[in-house]
Amino acid sequence: MLNKPLFKVHKICLFLLLLPTLALADHHGGPIKAGKEKAQICIACHGVGGNSNNPEWPNLSQQSKRYLIDQLHMFRDGIRKNALMNAQAMNLSDQDIIDLASYYNSLQGKKGKVQAGEKIIRLGESIYRGGILDRGIPACISCHGPKGLGIDRTGYPKISGQHSAYLLNRLKNYKESYDDRHLISKNYSIMSSISFKLSNIEMKGLSEYLQGLY
Ligand code: HEC
Ligand code: HEC
Repeated sequence: MLNKPLFKVHKICLFLLLLPTLALADHHGGPIKAGKEKAQICIACHGVGGNSNNPEWPNLSQQSKRYLIDQLHMFRDGIRKNALMNAQAMNLSDQDIIDLASYYNSLQGKKGKVQAGEKIIRLGESIYRGGILDRGIPACISCHGPKGLGIDRTGYPKISGQHSAYLLNRLKNYKESYDDRHLISKNYSIMSSISFKLSNIEMKGLSEYLQGLY
């Protein structure tokens, strides 16, 4: 009998002690945990841990959260066109998009792997680090950073350690859609104006260099 009220007091104390931890976990762990569950259907193409096996399907691990949110909205709204991804994004809610972006952003990125020859890599590296001054091509490093990690706040994506085949497809798409760039988005327009000035071999060099960068 004497034990009972004491037990109650303990239980209340324990609850009060746990309360801030629970609140904190919900705030920080919430979207990441929810995103992990929602990402089950993404694994088929984007792989376990956000690293895909098909070189045309991008790795999503450690990608900028802002960028992921932007792109998923664009796929859902049909502004960024890709048959496979438009179907995937069609039924996502705004909250699903936040959760999925938080989850993929929280995953450690894969270490880059060089596959191409020395000459093509050097070409990519020189444009990445120094741009091409007399043709008004800016150094990629100024927005994507020395390790290619991008800048989350602005939605500038991580581009290092990404499949070269995917990167090359993207650079070509930015270039080909130059006339429509303003209709797509402000960030798309920034990248489109840069890709427009790159030659095929320069885009190839950049893609190969970036795949090996980490
Ligand atoms: C059937 C295969 C498939 C599935 C399943 C799939 N994706 Fe994709 N995803 C793709 C392809 C292909 C692309 C590249 C599209 C392109 O080249 O523009 C892509 C691109 C993306 C991108 C853009 C990445 C970047 O760097 O710009 C994001 C974000 C993305 N997918 C998220 C998801 C999420 C989240 C899911 C699960 C809800 C998912 N995908 C499921 C095939 C798939
Ligand atoms: C002024 C800032 C800026 C500079 C300089 C810049 N980028 Fe970008 N880049 C962006 C932005 C913003 C995006 C996102 C565009 C979008 O939303 O589609 C992007 C996207 C990309 C993507 C697509 C990534 C993905 O996951 O699909 C690639 C590849 C890329 N940039 C490569 C380069 C290369 C190579 C250079 C140098 C020749 C370069 N960027 C220079 C701002 C920049």
